Amino acid sequence: MSQLKLGVLISGGGSNFQSIVDHIEDGSLPAEVAVVISNEPEAGGLNRAKKHGIDALVVNHRDYPSREAFEEKLIEILKSYNVELVVLAGFMRLLSPKLIETFPHRIMNIHPALLPSFPGTHVWQDQLDHGVKFAGCTVHFVDPGMDTGPIIIQAVVPVLDDDDADTLAQRILKQEHRTYPMAIKLFAQGRLEIEGRRVKIRPAEHEQDQSCLTNPLVDF
Ligand code: GRF
Repeated sequence: MSQLKLGVLISGGGSNFQSIVDHIEDGSLPAEVAVVISNEPEAGGLNRAKKHGIDALVVNHRDYPSREAFEEKLIEILKSYNVELVVLAGFMRLLSPKLIETFPHRIMNIHPALLPSFPGTHVWQDQLDHGVKFAGCTVHFVDPGMDTGPIIIQAVVPVLDDDDADTLAQRILKQEHRTYPMAIKLFAQGRLEIEGRRVKIRPAEHEQDQSCLTNPLVDF
């Protein structure tokens, strides 16, 4: 069976990308990273990709006259690698409707807060400043808004009294590394069903009764 082809877009260190690769390599995520694209030439994630023999390309948005032209290039590359799911992993550019329409319900993002609270950037300090007792991360499908698409999975972590933005970010990042591969796995298994804003998770096949076989399926 052919594996789900991922196109991973990054701007920085790429630890989420690394976690995805680790899960693929240990056999727990049925997917393959077809290509990594960074808009930042110095992104640490590029080296991580090369270490794993994955094509790693730079498309620097500053080299393009407009967002549209930049994204045309991204689309061209993603299509040339037959990418089936676009994975934004610390990719710091907002996507235009054109790119989103090219991959309908096939673009995911991870955000280091419990959406819809705290969208945007610098969210760790925002969560501390607001005084929330729980923080977390959200994997969601991308729509044209800023961090507004249908939510696939969330993880919650406590905010501790002596936290600063760094310690909170580390605690959240640990959960990002668990939830993103899980969301991609559910997608790869065809178990995500989008109904309006809600993403429902179909039960896994092995959750069905396997003690006997009936034809047709007895589903009660
Ligand atoms: C993560 O916290 C991600 O949620 C946010 O930027 C950070 C990127 O981390 N959007 P990395 O590049 O995956 O290490």
